[in-house]
Amino acid sequence: MSSIKSVLQETRQFPPSPEFAKDAHISSEEQYQQLWNRAKDNPAGFWGELAQTELEWFKPFETAMEGQMPDTKWFLGGKINASVQCLDRHLKTWRKNKAAIIWEGEPGDTRTLTYQQLHREVCKFANVLKKLGVQTGDRVTLYMPMVPELAIAMLACSRIGATHSIIFGGFSADAIADRNNDAQAKVVVTADGGWRRGKEVPLKTNVDASLPKAPSVEKVVVVRRTGTPVDMVPDRDYWWHELMEQVDADCEPAELDSEHPLFILYTSGSTGKPKGVLHTTAGYMLGAQMTSRWVFDLKDQDTYWCTADIGWITGHSYIVYGPLSNGATSLMFEGAPNWPDEGRFWEIIEKYQVNIFYTAPTAIRAFIKWGDQWPQKYDLSSLRLLGTVGEPINPEAWMWYHRVIGGERCPIVDTWWQTETGGIMISPLPGVQSTKPGSCTRPLPGVVPAIVDDKGNPLEANQGGLLVMTQPWPHMLRTLYGDHQRFKDTYFGKLEGLYFAGDGARKDEDGCYWVMGRVDDVLNVSGHRLSTMEIESALVSHPLVAEAAVVGFPHELKGEGICCFVTPKGVTPSDQEKKELIAHVRKQIGALATPDQIRFTPSLPKTRSGKIMRRLLRDIAAGKESSGDTTTLEDYTVLAKLREED
Ligand code: WTA
Repeated sequence: MSSIKSVLQETRQFPPSPEFAKDAHISSEEQYQQLWNRAKDNPAGFWGELAQTELEWFKPFETAMEGQMPDTKWFLGGKINASVQCLDRHLKTWRKNKAAIIWEGEPGDTRTLTYQQLHREVCKFANVLKKLGVQTGDRVTLYMPMVPELAIAMLACSRIGATHSIIFGGFSADAIADRNNDAQAKVVVTADGGWRRGKEVPLKTNVDASLPKAPSVEKVVVVRRTGTPVDMVPDRDYWWHELMEQVDADCEPAELDSEHPLFILYTSGSTGKPKGVLHTTAGYMLGAQMTSRWVFDLKDQDTYWCTADIGWITGHSYIVYGPLSNGATSLMFEGAPNWPDEGRFWEIIEKYQVNIFYTAPTAIRAFIKWGDQWPQKYDLSSLRLLGTVGEPINPEAWMWYHRVIGGERCPIVDTWWQTETGGIMISPLPGVQSTKPGSCTRPLPGVVPAIVDDKGNPLEANQGGLLVMTQPWPHMLRTLYGDHQRFKDTYFGKLEGLYFAGDGARKDEDGCYWVMGRVDDVLNVSGHRLSTMEIESALVSHPLVAEAAVVGFPHELKGEGICCFVTPKGVTPSDQEKKELIAHVRKQIGALATPDQIRFTPSLPKTRSGKIMRRLLRDIAAGKESSGDTTTLEDYTVLAKLREED
């Protein structure tokens, strides 16, 4: 492949208003250029200075940056604690009694925690963890609903130097067991249940089912959320509220090395096993803090709302660590956008007078489908800035967001980044950049991307190719937990000396990036990464299945849908058996991996060397005529048969 063809032609541009630019943290093209060039020419100097002025150290670091990618280390010699960045230092200021988290539960219950109150809860839970035997360096899994206790547990882990591993509540018992085993987690924090569209997600029951397969877990802490009865095993399971009564509210923060592991977050890669992306303390915190301030232009008076689930990286960096390290007010919401009705998000914006709103393209496509009458019922005039993340946004969805939600007055920051990058990498700075619908525009200071061909040669403007990073940044992943070789192979093995993001993109003549999507076997379903291999493995583990190939296809709401081509072992399965296969995938991975289509085929199209021709399958799944080369196809009749089934 020399270049990937891009078909998108988009010429609209929206400069920031002078009023917005005037007060923005980065407020002019000159200022941006100056910061960006300085960081490019001297990353150690640029980030080192910020780390000195923006982070609070127990002991200052000696070396800002050491080594090249993939093994760059940051701020060596320093001692630091992430919970101090987020809490303690605000207690010395007027922010002590400012709302840190405003929480709204799905049924409409609410809670507000000031910085001081949050600090107290965090210290108490840190003491609970210690009492349960958790030590610095241990792993603690959090499998929780979107309740304040989740943020409290994260910060409590960081306070004592335990590494948290959050598992999104939509994952199944099997997925929990895999992750607990990989991380060798000692404690799991969960809840009796979580609310999702009026129904209960049986979190504790899922944890119970996972434990026989995950022997490293010694203790389980259960938050009471839904009040549903759950089994509590003596000496293993404890109620959160009971433990919290037995501890005091003082907990000295652990003085940790800059490179101390802060958290592991599992994400899907192009092979079956999920990857435990590991982030460390000082570099990640600096990235989360600076990118939040630059991109969301956070001000003390803002109410900021990121609608992501904390189970994903977006929630880690932009509900908890980023906003709190800036002393911002972060709104946290447990429920869904269409429960009890499709006006829920807009009702919340009106109720709390939200100023900054960060959501995903898949949600925006759903809002469009539900109709303008929902947002129009509410007063959205408090909004001053909008953001998106997770997948490319279609220009028309961008325009709708701009018009209907932003009232044509709010800049939109389309933020490109990944679990691995820890923080936003490419995004408009809202006071600087003219936005373009569908483009994440330009790299932030400290980020030096390039578009290259599959040999690593830079491509010219507007030629589609692979998106890479040419320079290290402090908030990049350090390894894949327990598998450093896989880390090197996955991100640095393809192109010498470059971080390969796995995305295809082009850069236009203004230096703006247009991300086209994954070029590997990773699907992006409603902004969630899923590995085709993982779904294939789940299918093949069912006794009916001989072979399976999974591909994505364009889906109106989800972005990408999941299409499974399945070769059965015997006769073509019945409709009932087809349903059973779908349920099997849900059980193995979770509801988020539910196949949209299962197509049975006596065999799969393969090259003579035996490789499944996924490109062909993608065309068939999308209902397209394949224009690609089929000369290496082993058996033409397979293709004809698959098409007949369309
Ligand atoms: C995709 C989410 C286009 C991309 C923070 C990336 C995007 C993957 C954008 C990472 C965007 C994320 N425009 N594509 N603004 N943001 N992506 O790890 O394919 O869940 O590689 O991190 O989402 O997904 P992840």
